Amino acid sequence: MTGLAIRDLTAGIGTSQIIRGLDLEVPYGEIHALMGPNGSGKSTLCHVLTGHPRFEARGTVSLNGNDLLGLDVDERARRGVLQAFQYPTEIPGVKLQDLLVEAGEERGIPPEEMTERIERLAPVFSMEPFLERAVNDELSGGEKKRSELFQLAVLQPRVALLDEIDSGLDIDAVRQVAEAVKSMRAPDVAVLMITHYSRILRYVIPDRIHVMVRGRIVESGGPELADRLEAEGYEAWRE
Ligand SMILES: Nc1ncnc2c1ncn2[C@@H]1O[C@H](COP(=O)(O)OP(=O)(O)OP(=O)(O)O)[C@@H](O)[C@H]1O
Ligand SMILES: [Mg+2]
Repeated sequence: MTGLAIRDLTAGIGTSQIIRGLDLEVPYGEIHALMGPNGSGKSTLCHVLTGHPRFEARGTVSLNGNDLLGLDVDERARRGVLQAFQYPTEIPGVKLQDLLVEAGEERGIPPEEMTERIERLAPVFSMEPFLERAVNDELSGGEKKRSELFQLAVLQPRVALLDEIDSGLDIDAVRQVAEAVKSMRAPDVAVLMITHYSRILRYVIPDRIHVMVRGRIVESGGPELADRLEAEGYEAWRE
């Protein structure tokens, strides 16, 4: 399979395990949704995949058959394992445009190429007014989420980990963010979208939905699984 493959992943901090034997595959070209109760380990999974040094991880994670777990955080980013954060950080004093050009330079992408991507994608994400402003500084909640997605798109991920990019958005903004997510679908990109709400899944129809409870995937299914979750919640898997 081409794409992201995770087998028997265990991860935690010290002796406290947060991810407990997780199996998950997200093939290139597909968008998968990850849902699950608060504290089940969804954000931790993103941090572990991007290589946050705080977490110790065991198991197998590969991208196109190449091991990821042995690589440090910078190398994983260079290979395109990128995360849009649940709580985007503000970087006062650093303009968004400059941050992106610098991020490109770190990856060996020339400034002209980054500028071209920024100019092409800014209208898609309605980000033109924010390019000269400090990163996420004084932005509304919805604007921050859009900015996160825009930054990710400009860096052209191979694995896009979208952590609750639809939380706190008004109805129009959900639609806008959904369009942005749909625009990320590509033959060499795997998208994992974490959400608590089935409303965004009406606009972005995922290829698969996975349910995560206490550090493992306990159920996977087609888009119809979202309706079942909406009706029944996570009760069935809590025991
Ligand atoms: N740095 C840390 N130190 C100790 N415990 C942590 C740390 N980070 C996360 N945890 C714990 O790991 C568990 C999983 O947290 P995580 O943020 O991954 O959940 P989540 O599924 O993303 O939840 P939510 O839907 O609320 O965002 C929680 O119980 C959390 O308290
Ligand atoms: Mg989370």
